[in-house]
Amino acid sequence: MSGKKVLITGITGQDGSYLAEHLLGLGYEVHGLVRRVALENPKGRFVRLAHLLDKLILHPASLESYPSIFSVISRHGFDECYHLAAQSFVAESFADGFSTMNTNINGTHYMLAALREIRPDCRFYFAGSSEMFGKVREMPQRETTPFHPRSPYGISKVAGFDLTRNYREAYGMYCVSGMLFNHESPRRGFEFVTRKITSTVARIKLGLASELRIGNLEAKRDWGHAADYVRAMHLMLQQAEPDDYVVATGETHSVREFCERAFSEVKLNYQDYVVVDELYYRPAEVDLLIGDATKARTVLGWQPRYTFETLVTEMVQSDLEALHAMSESPSLQDTPFRY
Ligand code: NAP
Ligand code: GDD
Repeated sequence: MSGKKVLITGITGQDGSYLAEHLLGLGYEVHGLVRRVALENPKGRFVRLAHLLDKLILHPASLESYPSIFSVISRHGFDECYHLAAQSFVAESFADGFSTMNTNINGTHYMLAALREIRPDCRFYFAGSSEMFGKVREMPQRETTPFHPRSPYGISKVAGFDLTRNYREAYGMYCVSGMLFNHESPRRGFEFVTRKITSTVARIKLGLASELRIGNLEAKRDWGHAADYVRAMHLMLQQAEPDDYVVATGETHSVREFCERAFSEVKLNYQDYVVVDELYYRPAEVDLLIGDATKARTVLGWQPRYTFETLVTEMVQSDLEALHAMSESPSLQDTPFRY
């Protein structure tokens, strides 16, 4: 048992839930920073944590409020902090760039500043993203690839990356950024393309939907599994020296290929159901991402366990099972998927 105390921001999200599970398994005392509204609506907001709730210590705080973060950090002697909370949907960042910047940049700055003030020895992980590479300058992308973000979200993550590096260099704190490529799971939000596809495939299979309306089918992503990627986050905080790491599978697939694979999982042809809709195109697109995780593999000893195929299978099967379990619910017929 580690006996260490850890703080996770964004614990209610996809990665937060897998990371909490992983760290509890390693014997950590796991604390989560959550929004007040989450505590007021536990059924809705804690859906990914339902099986863990009795093992977690949750604190209400707002990423927009330095005093609320300061207060939580000052009351507990955290050894590690994983800052995962963010407005994480790229398309939404085009719709409301101001909130995205505010939450993602100031939220990261408040976390770092409060830790420096109260607990400078606490190790800090920042959730950086392959979106920072954006209009990619080389292939595959690695730690030294220059950034060229293509969305307010990507810009906010570059700023968070720079803040994190600066606290490391200026104050000698153990602060690292993971440059994580897309990672998915049955707990992925419905607005992201993979979960939109697998949840709609399940609905089509059960006769609850007749089409999948989608944007750019040719965009390519390096898709891994969130359960694999949270292990890399933890490993990054266990090294002798702080450093930044790319985490990726090294394989890229198009949205079209993802559709093809997900529909074939239920013996359907994607071409019979997929409708391209310009509504889902972005003002600026990241066309192709493929990561080189050699450093994470060699220095951290990290290895992914899932493949693209096992990831898609797990997501489709999980959505089918969830729908079967809910199939008596009339409200299911009306569930909108307009992301
Ligand atoms: P997610 O499922 O969207 O979860 C986001 C988390 O942030 C949720 O817990 C959410 O809380 C919280 N949050 C959002 N706005 C907040 C605010 N204003 N104040 C406090 N909390 C707020 O994201 P994820 O996929 O787990 O990703 C985790 C982190 O990794 C994010 O920073 C994301 O940008 C980054 N990342 C993700 C990927 C990926 O492919 N998944 C790749 C690279 C980087 P509520 O539940 O209250 O909304
Ligand atoms: N969401 C969505 N919906 N995306 C679509 C659709 C659609 O209907 N149709 C095509 N796409 C394309 C998007 O244009 C994009 O090129 C790709 O599918 C993936 O989109 P998302 O699943 O929304 O993810 P993302 O790559 O923009 O961002 C995710 O990965 C980043 C890491 O690269 C998020 O998890 C970010 O938080 C993360 O940093």
